[in-house]
Amino acid sequence: MAEQKSSILDAFKFDQTKRTIVDPDKKVKVAIIGTGWIAEAHVAAYKTFPDVEIVAAADLIPGKAEQFCRDNGLENVRLYGHHSELVEAEKGVVDAVSVCVYNTQHAPVTIDCLNAGFNVLLEKPFTVTLDEAVDIMRAEKASGKILTIGFQPRFDINMQMIKKIVQSGELGKIYYVQTGGGRRRGIPTPFGTTFIEAETGGIGALADIGCYSLDVVLNALGNPRPLTVSGYVSNYFGKNPDYFTAEGKPAEYADLFGVDDFGAAFVRLEGDIILDFRIAWAMHLDTPGDTIFMGTKGSLRVPSTECWNGSFDEPMTVYTEVAGEAVDIKIPLRTQYSDLFELKCRSFLDAVKTGGKAPIPSNEILYNQAIIDGINRSAELGREIVVEIPEI
Ligand SMILES: NC(=O)c1ccc[n+]([C@@H]2O[C@H](COP(=O)([O-])OP(=O)(O)OC[C@H]3O[C@@H](n4cnc5c(N)ncnc54)[C@H](O)[C@@H]3O)[C@@H](O)[C@H]2O)c1
Repeated sequence: MAEQKSSILDAFKFDQTKRTIVDPDKKVKVAIIGTGWIAEAHVAAYKTFPDVEIVAAADLIPGKAEQFCRDNGLENVRLYGHHSELVEAEKGVVDAVSVCVYNTQHAPVTIDCLNAGFNVLLEKPFTVTLDEAVDIMRAEKASGKILTIGFQPRFDINMQMIKKIVQSGELGKIYYVQTGGGRRRGIPTPFGTTFIEAETGGIGALADIGCYSLDVVLNALGNPRPLTVSGYVSNYFGKNPDYFTAEGKPAEYADLFGVDDFGAAFVRLEGDIILDFRIAWAMHLDTPGDTIFMGTKGSLRVPSTECWNGSFDEPMTVYTEVAGEAVDIKIPLRTQYSDLFELKCRSFLDAVKTGGKAPIPSNEILYNQAIIDGINRSAELGREIVVEIPEI
């Protein structure tokens, strides 16, 4: 089916970002912590806004923050090594921070930033463990600052359409959901090994792309609480030196590989909903399946993508009955006009400037982290576990 172009008005109708009128005289002082791969996307977005001044940057690796600023045309930026140096020196100066460090540093960096009174845009995944997510949320509560988690697919109009359909009630009661996806060969080692080492990545495919698939369904369903998880993880590809040499990478990456490259789970959600999930960085398969929502009045199929990192490029289908006959309804793809990183950063800045709510609040990602944590614990124990979430 040909893509049906929607009007630009449609794009705004589905765009949940409420933009403030940008007043360039009231600049937000922004710091970047972790000047690696994804920090570039944050800076590219911030540079499009006339009311942002990037005043500070930190990276553990000597000279990296300085090189980053040079490469990205940033001038007069105060530079630091460990994040704690920046936090100490910039307390009371910086308004907002992009936390772009690798996964295992998400919790210590975010907690220190919140304690220092900074508003925080934290990259996904939320954390490595559920306990870390809870610790961050306690710091958030105590600080009263804004914490938003960087799931940019939330701003995609086609992703938003999934939630709109599920929440409309047209599908009836949803009782079964399948989600996930992955890549045939896609273990991410673009600039080194921070994604694949236990010390830096902490978790692999589950955190890198699994968190997106989980967010699509949890957000669409209205964030039901996970009750039990039976999980499985493996790393047959990542531990195989031939995988990396075939990719033109060093065979030693297999020795360094300390995370999952495949994860699967069967999750019971509150409201009598079953979630069937699997995610792969590498596999001998095109896709482990589309995302589907099965309901008592209809079902929704969302075509699988390599990583759920934005949108999908084929129409969704609703399967239902009309006048007692089975019918399939194609949902036309809408054109996304705005850049997802710009929407992610702008919505954060708007919340900071207006004292508004976090665009993607931590409490909407907590259950996502509880499921990922549950998969790892269940896999370790070799049995189903009950999800217990401490009081925040
Ligand atoms: N939203 C997206 O589309 C997207 C895409 C890629 C990565 N990410 C996420 O962004 C995060 C970073 O990924 P990346 O690819 O940029 O990693 P990276 O390894 O390229 O960069 C991380 C940088 O953080 C620095 N760092 C770590 N701890 C620090 C600390 N305490 N103080 C100062 N610097 C510190 C490291 O030295 C490194 O340079 C990850 O959590 C990843 O999941 C998100």
